[in-house]
Amino acid sequence: MKNTSLDLVNFFSDALFATLVVNKETNKIESVNDIACEYYGYIKEDLLHVKLESIFVSKITEEEVYPNFIHQRKDRKRFRAQMMKMSLEDNWVLYLVKNDDEKILKTEIYEKEIDLFFNSNRKNIFNYDIVRSIFSLMPNILYLKDSNLRYIFFNSNFYKYFGFGQIEIIGKTTEEIFPEDFARQVETSDKEAILEKKTIESEQLLNINGVEVWLNAFKTPILDNEGNFIGLLGGAVDITKDKEHEKELSSINQMLNEKLAEREELLMKSLDMLSFALECRDPYTSGHQKRVAELSVAIAKKMEFSEEECFGLKLASLIHDIGKIGIPAELLSKPTKLSAVEFELIKNHSTLGAEIVSKLPNPWNLSLIVEQHHERYDGTGYPKKLIGEEINIFARILAVADSFEAIVSHRPYRPGRVKDFAIKEIANGRNTLYDPKVVDIFMELILKDNFEFEQE
Ligand SMILES: [Fe+2]
Repeated sequence: MKNTSLDLVNFFSDALFATLVVNKETNKIESVNDIACEYYGYIKEDLLHVKLESIFVSKITEEEVYPNFIHQRKDRKRFRAQMMKMSLEDNWVLYLVKNDDEKILKTEIYEKEIDLFFNSNRKNIFNYDIVRSIFSLMPNILYLKDSNLRYIFFNSNFYKYFGFGQIEIIGKTTEEIFPEDFARQVETSDKEAILEKKTIESEQLLNINGVEVWLNAFKTPILDNEGNFIGLLGGAVDITKDKEHEKELSSINQMLNEKLAEREELLMKSLDMLSFALECRDPYTSGHQKRVAELSVAIAKKMEFSEEECFGLKLASLIHDIGKIGIPAELLSKPTKLSAVEFELIKNHSTLGAEIVSKLPNPWNLSLIVEQHHERYDGTGYPKKLIGEEINIFARILAVADSFEAIVSHRPYRPGRVKDFAIKEIANGRNTLYDPKVVDIFMELILKDNFEFEQE
């Protein structure tokens, strides 16, 4: 072989198409580039000893351009590709073979299966050229599998994305070309689509060279006119970035939630401190507010108030009697019945409590709940003698919880009463002192759910 011809092959060594230099007389291949080895499935040394007719299936004529030439690989699979023939000086001929990346390869071996799709009585829908155009235009990964779940038709996104050559995919099953765990996910959803005879969408995780990739895959079974399964149309979109955003967002959310939880805890502790300050002055109500908080939150939860609303009610309950801090200590622990004047003084605690709590900016209207916790449903309460739904719902819940807890616990002027007595008292107040809906829920909680205080 003359140097000029050899130079020409070297010139094409990095080309994106196969080059073969053939001796016209002996019809022997004398030189090839790497792409040629890939196209025909040989290593270079072997390809150099192969007879030309075993890789060129179509006939060589006088033409210089062969748009649809059939070639054969070592594994005997055939493929169509464009070919150009150039006569070089002396006895050499240069063949340039190009598989157009944007076109889908249609092999001889699977032509029958492909024809089944495109030339069956469904041809109006599955027109080969239209489907091919759609496949090549779509930005997504698209493929068609035959009834044995072998890939027979796909777009360039498919093999480029996974780093395959076209030849490596044609006629193969998922199991044969993908890692085991990914193949299993694909097979599971394939089977589901076939069994259910409907489109299946699923998220699949794939590891490509150590990089995790998330795909949103869909597949839909193709049935013939008798309803028999003849193939599977599938596609996938890379959603790795979306997944990463989701992950980032959830970690930001987690951080915010942690911060929020820290703040809530600080708030709870501040209110605990206030509550404790009151209990130091009025030892008989020790633990009262905590127990009331337990019961009122249990009622509110059963009434399906949100967690946020229940939290607000818990805070209000924990400090509902804070106004007693401004009442003379001897009145709070007086062992005998209070006079009318003394009682008026005690009644001030709800207004004073509201004023204290109003110093704390909050989204739960704590001050209002504290102010109204002695209002009664029939308008006989204080300080404003509000009636029915004029009273804040959480204050109505707090009223029931507060009354029940007060009856069952020990007071300076009387010992604690038994639970049954307290239940009767609340039942008697239904629709008069207390909101009937709240009482009904309270009864269910005490009688059916066996509510018990955790706090001593
Ligand atoms: Fe009170």
